[in-house]
Amino acid sequence: MVNKAIIPVAGWGTRFLPATKAMPKEMLPIVDKPVIQYIVEELLEAGVYNIIFVTGRHKRAIEDHFDLNPDLELHLERAGKKKLLGEVRKISHLVNPIFIRQKEQKGLGHAILTAKATLGSEEPFIVSLGDIIIKGINTIDIMRQIYHRYGKSVIILFEVPRKDVFKYGIAKVRKIDNDTFLVEDIVEKPSPQEAPSNYAVVGRYLFTPTIWEKLEKTKPGKGGEIQLTDAIKELLKEEAVYAYKIDRNSVFDTGNKLDYLKTVITFALEREDINGELLEFLREKIEEKAKEKDKKD
Ligand code: G1P
Repeated sequence: MVNKAIIPVAGWGTRFLPATKAMPKEMLPIVDKPVIQYIVEELLEAGVYNIIFVTGRHKRAIEDHFDLNPDLELHLERAGKKKLLGEVRKISHLVNPIFIRQKEQKGLGHAILTAKATLGSEEPFIVSLGDIIIKGINTIDIMRQIYHRYGKSVIILFEVPRKDVFKYGIAKVRKIDNDTFLVEDIVEKPSPQEAPSNYAVVGRYLFTPTIWEKLEKTKPGKGGEIQLTDAIKELLKEEAVYAYKIDRNSVFDTGNKLDYLKTVITFALEREDINGELLEFLREKIEEKAKEKDKKD
């Protein structure tokens, strides 16, 4: 049973400055739940409770979020706010978090390597990245099923428009059945011309322990950082890596301003307590903007 995961959360969040000057980008809310909680919930739903967070100096809020908060709980209890109390308690009661620090930010590959001593180098493990929320499908379950069938590493992919390939790791794949593929090559953030396909890495991985030695040997790559993608490229020389493609509509990127806003609006429109008025507001805004444009033209 693969039952441990690493979530790297040490990044600066420069795309969201100044909001992320004192607050971790992983704590940005999607309506009323921080992004990181969605990532953790996907793991918990799959029965993965042991989660190693690779954090940095400015990330204490994440530790507090997954800890008990007795004062707040008492306050909610006294105020009779049972539903909120349940919400606040649920997350900290289920997860077994381990926090370790990446002292220097040398890239995603380096962040994962930082967890090696804690996780041990004998067992397979999961890596979930904090930027992308996946809805309607549990990628952790899928990766484990594929792992149990083939005993090899697995990554999750989704199709992106060619113009967007530069934002992701991109894999060259060979189909084996329906949505399952074998990875033939992988490249970190290629230009549209260089990209071997438009199948992007969504940020969910299941690795065999062989990845450790590859990570240890990985030199700085794209952006001068030690890239996980480069270690996977090396892994491919030794072991098969499987991939599973999920529907684009299940993928919600929160890693850049525009996609973050689209995610917030999509999730808000599904919330019965606010969606009626929100839709009305959006309609009014669209009309207003159309009128402004007409005036200008
Ligand atoms: C990272 C990975 C990239 C992957 C992406 C998914 O990039 O390096 O391969 O496609 O996450 O979100 P980042 O978004 O951290 O720049």
